[in-house]
Amino acid sequence: MKETISVGLLGLGTVGSGVIEILEDHKESIQHKTGCNVNIKTVLVNNLSKPRNLQNNETKLTDQYTDITQDPEIDVVVEVMGGIDHTLKILMEAIENGKHIVTANKDLVAQYGAELLEATQRNKCDLFYEASVAGGIPILRAILDGLSSDRIRKMMGIVNGTTNYILTKMSKEGVDFDTVLKEAQDLGFAEADPTADVDGLDAARKMTILSILGFSMPINLEDVQIKGIRGLSLSDINYAKQLGYSVKLIGVADHSENGASISVEPTLLPLDHPLSSVNDEYNAVYVYGDAVGETMFYGPGAGKFPTATAVVSDLIAVIKSLRLGTSGMAYVQPQFPKKMKTKNDTITKKYLRLHVHDQPGMLMELTKIFAQYDISFDQIIQRKADAEDERELMMITHQVSEADFERAYEELGKLSSIRSVDSVFRVEGSE
Ligand code: HSE
Repeated sequence: MKETISVGLLGLGTVGSGVIEILEDHKESIQHKTGCNVNIKTVLVNNLSKPRNLQNNETKLTDQYTDITQDPEIDVVVEVMGGIDHTLKILMEAIENGKHIVTANKDLVAQYGAELLEATQRNKCDLFYEASVAGGIPILRAILDGLSSDRIRKMMGIVNGTTNYILTKMSKEGVDFDTVLKEAQDLGFAEADPTADVDGLDAARKMTILSILGFSMPINLEDVQIKGIRGLSLSDINYAKQLGYSVKLIGVADHSENGASISVEPTLLPLDHPLSSVNDEYNAVYVYGDAVGETMFYGPGAGKFPTATAVVSDLIAVIKSLRLGTSGMAYVQPQFPKKMKTKNDTITKKYLRLHVHDQPGMLMELTKIFAQYDISFDQIIQRKADAEDERELMMITHQVSEADFERAYEELGKLSSIRSVDSVFRVEGSE
């Protein structure tokens, strides 16, 4: 075993500099845990003329990735630069040259995780990506190691900090979606282009990674039903509260004998559910296993040091596995073929908000349609609406299959007494 492990770092943004600082600040403890020194030999940057504050004068900066992928002295490539296709090309070249990979890139792993795993296993290299899901929360290790003896049935995650921040502000301060989003962007907290966060894609990528590992199944991003929080109304947040629920963007991954179902959507959760108290930009993943029952993992989902902590822990794992001679064995290929649940097997409660005509028999017409599909109601609130001849109706159903709900919903549209169906959300955690 070498006395010094050489690292090539791809990217020197916020997380990249965090990695360098943690390696320096925790040098002795890392040396104690791994039995060797870690040296950042080369760093790939976009702009060589930008002044940098590197602690080690011997670290070389380059704008040529081949200085890393083709350097025989470099043992591990740490990727914190983001991007998909070009980054994949660089990492594949590094793997073919025998380098171990640590990446924080959920976009890349969600899309090309299987290809990366195949290449690393073929080359007897390690691939770790703890930072790709929920930043500083060691959730992948919890699933792969801590809960490896169990059968995971369900995972529910608040895995996007930006949307959780927006929903928390809306709920606590009564500010509407557009105003909070603008404020979060001005603070530099939300991206200038918030599409991936707000429309649920970022969370869907993380749920894809969690589902592959948790259910040992080759799930793809395309298998995830995605609905974001854009335009979510304050009314729904307020009515949900009155009904005893919070509204969160929840990734739900569910697995039973009938297959798996994975979705990311605004979801009502009982106010006393542990995920309801996860506020601001924090993340949490709730995991239910057959044997262990309920568990929950909470922490910062992004940020310089939380993310860098996960990256450096992966680097330590690579070194430990080098010492043990187990490189390339940390992850195994999925055990089960992909099997997704049908809409008949996907069962949840639903929340609806409608505008209806205030006329005799309206409720009867409405409940008749639901009764036809065996859907009964758990809670109903009726309120005055802006127009004198209308009422606003909020309802929470009991458990219903997606297929039956869709059929009932289609028929609702044909009722002349219904002016509009304003919102439909999933309800979790209360049955
Ligand atoms: N944009 C992500 C979030 C950050 O808001 O959670 C890290 O994935």
